[in-house]
Amino acid sequence: MRFFIDTADVDEIRDLAATGLVDGVTTNPSLIAKSGGDFFEVLREICAIVPGPVSAEVTATDTATMIEEARRLTRVAENIVIKVPLTPDGLKACRGLTDEGTKVNVTLCFSAAQAILAAKAGARYVSPFIGRLDDIGADGLALIAEIVEIYGAYPDFTTEVLVASVRNMTHVVEAAKMGAHVVTIPPAVLRAMFKHPLTDRGLEAFLADWAKTGQSILKQPADTAADDAKPARRSA
Ligand code: E4P
Repeated sequence: MRFFIDTADVDEIRDLAATGLVDGVTTNPSLIAKSGGDFFEVLREICAIVPGPVSAEVTATDTATMIEEARRLTRVAENIVIKVPLTPDGLKACRGLTDEGTKVNVTLCFSAAQAILAAKAGARYVSPFIGRLDDIGADGLALIAEIVEIYGAYPDFTTEVLVASVRNMTHVVEAAKMGAHVVTIPPAVLRAMFKHPLTDRGLEAFLADWAKTGQSILKQPADTAADDAKPARRSA
């Protein structure tokens, strides 16, 4: 499963990318507005930090202008993926852009029927918004299960399921169990995934016991330190 991060906050992206766990980034017009920066400048910065796919969304609503905007956006960097909304015009743009060799992420997907259309339009990714479904009392994860099942039945569907509008760790874990290809995670949720109280407690106890030994891995006796100069031995 690949992890994208769902933000346009360049500092957050830089910090999380340093973990080596970030495979890509998704942005949307609201996230760009929240960043307070110039769209193209923000995209340039993100693409310089993360070599994987970076989704940038068009803001036009008609096919011709969407394609024109997409062409400008793809000039920013090679790893730009164009996000289009799941509308008839968006899907027409998806087909046109895909045929030109541009990768497209069809966003604002809320039903299996829409996901089928996105696959037929040649989308590289479809983004079902699970948190927003949960918000209205529907079951976002059930939609992921449905789409994964449908896509799995048709090997000619090459569209990947990009789980979006993620609100918590359970969303990530359950989507992973279902075999979703990618999940785009808000920074706070990704940070929360590292945490477990037993990890903190266990580490605290190990360090306390280690301190009692008075030893240091880096301050070794001279004979052991000399071994550092030798190449590491391979394990069997
Ligand atoms: C996906 O690409 C969107 O940016 C995002 O996941 C929207 O999520 P939200 O419901 O938290 O705004």
